[in-house]
Amino acid sequence: MRCAMSRGHDVIGTTRSRGTNDLVPFDLAHDRIHDRIDFARITNGSVWVINTITFGGVDTCFRNRQQSHQVNVEHTQILADDISSVNARHVFLSSSYVFDGTSVPNCETDELSPLNDYGTHKELIENYLKDNSPESIVLRFDKVVGNRQDENHLLSDWHTASQAGKPILCWNGQTLSPTLVDDVALAICLACENELSGLYHVANPENFSRFEVIQQFLNAAGADNDVCNVDAEALGFADKRPLKSWLDPSRFIAATGMNFTPVSKIISTFLA
Ligand SMILES: NC(=O)c1ccc[n+]([C@@H]2O[C@H](COP(=O)([O-])OP(=O)(O)OC[C@H]3O[C@@H](n4cnc5c(N)ncnc54)[C@H](OP(=O)(O)O)[C@@H]3O)[C@@H](O)[C@H]2O)c1
Repeated sequence: MRCAMSRGHDVIGTTRSRGTNDLVPFDLAHDRIHDRIDFARITNGSVWVINTITFGGVDTCFRNRQQSHQVNVEHTQILADDISSVNARHVFLSSSYVFDGTSVPNCETDELSPLNDYGTHKELIENYLKDNSPESIVLRFDKVVGNRQDENHLLSDWHTASQAGKPILCWNGQTLSPTLVDDVALAICLACENELSGLYHVANPENFSRFEVIQQFLNAAGADNDVCNVDAEALGFADKRPLKSWLDPSRFIAATGMNFTPVSKIISTFLA
């Protein structure tokens, strides 16, 4: 919301849980968007509905299979139809977890092969939008990180561990493209402003092993914590994950001119 407003857009935000005056209550499990927002009163240009809802991450979806399918698939399909019926356009946030990680980097034309429920839900909605609302925008992201110490994300986890002098566990062999959350917000705005439709990969073009990113972080922080490489079993995941994720963002960069923030800059801003 902050990013879109700073770029001059009129923004209406919804919330399920936070009772603030400036956000409209909306629970995807129970509400219809047109009962909450009066689209007829929005007459000023194109209307996009940025759908950032997920029932939860990989394990939450797996542990609550019926409810997560209801929210992430059944109710999201209803939302998609409702968005089309008011002539607005759906911006759906998808994930690199639509792939199994065996052949990276992945581009938009690659076959989907999700390993877990979360990725399967994303695949089902991507296909639904392709068939029913081709004017929609689907943006696939990889690992999103922040650059602030007062928010919860990968770097703040490592920071907490490093300050406590604790070892940092690292999934052996995992690769990722940490993408700054502010870049994600900007990319969503650019996608709308450029009137994109269809599927785009939105991820930092840099790709690292998790071990390398942890080392970069510890070096920049002047910390010397142990980094323990462990296998997936030791991390106690409830559902499977691809070991490697890497999205090729060339199509999005060509369409928008987007510049992604390098990981070294994300780390230095975080530590500063
Ligand atoms: N974070 C990443 O690294 C990443 C990577 C790839 C793709 N994505 C995708 O990007 C989107 C945003 O991710 P995120 O990390 O911000 O996820 P998140 O922190 O789990 O936030 C999900 C949001 O969905 C809301 N929500 C859940 N059930 C709802 C319902 N029934 N009705 C209305 N709202 C509901 C939650 O509201 P409450 O606050 O009330 O619980 C929360 O605000 C998701 O679609 C996710 O799959 C994220």
